[in-house]
Amino acid sequence: MAYHITIIPGDGIGKEIVDSAVAVLKKVDGKFGLRLSYAFKDAGGTAYDKFGTPLPTDTLESCKASDGVLFGAVGGGKWDSVEPALRPERAILGLRKGLGLYANLRPVKVADSLTGYSPLKPDLVRGVDLVIVRELIGGIYFGDKCESEQHDGVERAWDLENYSVPEVERIARLAFETAKLRRGKVTSVDKANVLATSRLWRRTVTKLAESYKGIELGHLYVDNCAMQLAVRPTQFDVIVTGNLFGDILSDEAAVVGGSIGMMPSASIGTSTSLYEPIHGSAPDIAGKGIANPIGTILSAAMLLRYSLHEEEAARAIETAVDKALEVGFRTPDLWREGFQKANTDEMTKAICERI
Ligand code: IPM
Ligand code: MG
Repeated sequence: MAYHITIIPGDGIGKEIVDSAVAVLKKVDGKFGLRLSYAFKDAGGTAYDKFGTPLPTDTLESCKASDGVLFGAVGGGKWDSVEPALRPERAILGLRKGLGLYANLRPVKVADSLTGYSPLKPDLVRGVDLVIVRELIGGIYFGDKCESEQHDGVERAWDLENYSVPEVERIARLAFETAKLRRGKVTSVDKANVLATSRLWRRTVTKLAESYKGIELGHLYVDNCAMQLAVRPTQFDVIVTGNLFGDILSDEAAVVGGSIGMMPSASIGTSTSLYEPIHGSAPDIAGKGIANPIGTILSAAMLLRYSLHEEEAARAIETAVDKALEVGFRTPDLWREGFQKANTDEMTKAICERI
């Protein structure tokens, strides 16, 4: 066994959090003899500044030749006026498309010790354990768009949402398979009372469910789902939805879980998978060494589990994170009286020491 991983720090806090995750990977490598090797590559605004493009070909090629990709974050106010096709966000969108990453898995699990961090009452969040399965390379994100056109002297812009049956089937199948390994419940989220794409989505998911007899399938409109996540989040097991709804609901679900800084994600497709925290590049705290590295560290654990099939090493990381939190280490986003304040490095060290 020997694995090659492409590491893409990106912008803002990306470098700090990715450095932490690499330190943790090196620690488990030493313990389990994984023989990991790394290629560090640019993407996002940083790549735009260096090479004039947010996603250099070399970065994409390196990802394709790897066993897994660990991604930090991209974006920042510095690049707000860059033309749309060259914005930092195009790096992650290009990687998703270029690697065929059609599914994004965003698990939200609330440890009992962290129920107090949710903006919701502890009673509502105790026991939350759900995963959002978001379609990632279709829908309105990748449909035709027009930045600006004139109609009778009026300027307009438009984005086209479209989904095909095979696109919906492929993501729904993954959701059903995921639910089989969990509590067997799938909630499909759409806006079928208004949108044609949603009606096709609902029809397709319902039809596919016929071949998954053991699974309990429900449907919710996206507005109701947003409300249900705040009212009774424990009702969810697997949520499957399109690209835009999944983007929005996964941020909401993440805060229900306590801190967006702790949430990992896996983007999977037909070849190399990519792992990234669900939070952004947080330019306001970049370079201060105070970012919460846990979302990225847990993303590295997902990489070990799903891409390298190194379950024991993955679990060692997750257990070490739980222990570091249990003994009271907290980055500033989670710190409160009575706990041990830790910056990014200190939190990383606290986790490494428990592996
Ligand atoms: C996410 C992010 C991205 C998205 C941005 C950075 C393009 O919000 O991964 O959720 O919208 O998908
Ligand atoms: Mg998002």
